Amino acid sequence: MQGKAVEELTEDEARAELARLAGAIAAANRDYHTRDAPEISDADYDGLKQRNAAIEARFPGLKRADSPSEQVGAALAEGFARVRHAVRMLSLENAFAPEDVADFDDRVRKYLGLGPEAPLLFTAEPKIDGLSLNLRYVAGRLVQAATRGDGEEGENVTENARTIADIPQHLTDGPEVLEVRGEVYMSHADFAALNARQIAAGEKPFANPRNAAAGSLRQLDATITRARPLRFFAYAWGELSAPLADTQMGAIERFAALGFPTNPLTRLCDGPEALMAIYREIEAKRATLGYDIDGVVYKVNDLALQQRLGFRSTTPRWAIAHKFPAELAWTRLEAIDIQVGRTGALSPVARLLPVTVGGVVVSNATLHNEDYIAGRDAKGNPIRGGKDIRVGDWVQVYRAGDVIPKVADVDVSRRSPDAQPYVFPHVCPECGSAAIREEGDSVRRCTGGLVCPAQAVERLKHFVSRAAFDIDGLGAKQVEAFFADTVLPIREPADIFTLAERDAANSLQKLKNRDGWGDRSATNLFAAIEARRVIPLNRLIFALGIRHVGEAAAGLLATHYGNWAAFERAMTAATVGEGPEWEDLLAIDGVGAVLATSAITAFHQAAERASIDRLVAHLTVEEVAPRGPVESPVAGKTVVFTGTLERMTRAEAKARAEALGAKVAGSVSAKTDLVVAGPGAGSKAKAAAALGVEVIDEDAWLHLIGDA
Ligand code: IVH
Repeated sequence: MQGKAVEELTEDEARAELARLAGAIAAANRDYHTRDAPEISDADYDGLKQRNAAIEARFPGLKRADSPSEQVGAALAEGFARVRHAVRMLSLENAFAPEDVADFDDRVRKYLGLGPEAPLLFTAEPKIDGLSLNLRYVAGRLVQAATRGDGEEGENVTENARTIADIPQHLTDGPEVLEVRGEVYMSHADFAALNARQIAAGEKPFANPRNAAAGSLRQLDATITRARPLRFFAYAWGELSAPLADTQMGAIERFAALGFPTNPLTRLCDGPEALMAIYREIEAKRATLGYDIDGVVYKVNDLALQQRLGFRSTTPRWAIAHKFPAELAWTRLEAIDIQVGRTGALSPVARLLPVTVGGVVVSNATLHNEDYIAGRDAKGNPIRGGKDIRVGDWVQVYRAGDVIPKVADVDVSRRSPDAQPYVFPHVCPECGSAAIREEGDSVRRCTGGLVCPAQAVERLKHFVSRAAFDIDGLGAKQVEAFFADTVLPIREPADIFTLAERDAANSLQKLKNRDGWGDRSATNLFAAIEARRVIPLNRLIFALGIRHVGEAAAGLLATHYGNWAAFERAMTAATVGEGPEWEDLLAIDGVGAVLATSAITAFHQAAERASIDRLVAHLTVEEVAPRGPVESPVAGKTVVFTGTLERMTRAEAKARAEALGAKVAGSVSAKTDLVVAGPGAGSKAKAAAALGVEVIDEDAWLHLIGDA
């Protein structure tokens, strides 16, 4: 289903796919924002977000409560104080093709009720590839600097920001309260010098300038930040006690006058053609700028129009980021290795002759699955013109800024005459069990389950991971060592909770006397494990590593069942495809047949079930309370707009109402709570009167929602 075209998904598949995407996007957000260690490329990330948006557009009713299109960033790193942003820090919608730029212009015009000939100006400026920062000045003094975090709350990095020379500490002019937003970044030259120092000091070099900037700004010790050459460009603002200007360009000029660096390539454009011309100009300069940019940002210039356009849940309607295409390079494919994942998926990995792609040396890349290697998509249609990929081939590697690159293309004209088509294994390379492909699955999976050491160890890694049990001192490396250990082994999650007891009983060699362990680290590990004997239900469900049950889905199951006993009882009693427990499971908004089948199966598979039971015997599982609704005077109400609205377009009214938690319907029925009627309202106002539904005018509506 993962590879299936959005138009072809059934409703159940779409629901399961949205759940999968929510999990994958949440994981990618965590890797990127909290760990500064992205595992997928920006292009792949954008691909996940786009697919999610396309499915939501086709099935609006399936949109999840935790939809990724409603979220900006990710969880915060521990160690910094949290700061609630006075004005949310949002992200930008992406555009990739010239048509997307024309669409953007169209949408803005339509929303504002402007004809195609009405003048409409935009600014265009480089999209800096760094991390955003909010700088708060009160009476001209820098009082706080905060990262974006999840958009609502960021990390307080004030002391670190004070060490950045580009950021003024005092302003001699400007509003009493002024929040300047912009990007912290590192130049190519400074990045190269920093990495040379890292290597000389025996430290790990940074993957790219953005990771170096993020890692440097988010240092608990500001003296380290001071030693790192960070730069800043101002391009936006948060809370203001007085307006900065009437236009975006005016605001940027104001920033420059106040002493902030602003990007010299910022231009004013009168429409999509001019925007495309600037895009090409900036793209041509990209390689010589001396810092990383990953696209061009377009913004409506008139701030009164920006105000009217407002926001969707996480992105403004008045701006868009036009991304550059990914970077490419050709190299030789030396081998194809198969890795076995937690759910048994066999993933082919390309081992490459090392090559530099966009400044980073690449020696591994993903080949996705066997169809991809064979040159066809999940439906059997040719991709890359049907060209297969063989060991020894020259392949094009693709990287959009980050780790795990992909193989995009193959040059068959350079293929050796004795190159053989790649034969994808039908047995698991780790345990020798049959590896099978289920109908409709693009992935071949090992059937060994817990018998397969690769699956067992990957499951354990998942079990101790951050969003699951998050056990300090028990990371992926230690899990591998304990898994292979003969004296004090950990083969399944329950073994973690008997570790201290087994260590104490073993008179031969205690953990504290072993390589890599001391008295302190062993004691700390046992204490960290002890602390996790009490675990929230959602974390436990996620930790079980059931296929299709990601963090978001685990949260849905936990809030629905509330406690472990109820969840376990329901899964045990349930039958796939029928019965009250099955119906009840599918009634959860965001749970589809695929997820439900997988959860039930996990509890009905004898070995797996026994392993779950052994684990839970060691735990106290905390209950999870159901989620509360959005607070606003119209939250949960069904509203109908009718007649001519004079102070806003229909789209604007609908978006505003939905943002406040209301449901906007097209016709009046007994379920309608409120009708907002403008001049010329006809049958709908009459229907409302007949049903006794309250009817108010536009001014009363604006008053009600606090916009009057
Ligand atoms: S405007 C409400 N302008 O891109 C939108 N953002 O994907 C405010 N970024 O979080 C952002 N250069 O970190 C804007 N010239 C620019 C930018 C820019 C880089 C980053 C920023 C933002 C992200 C959105």
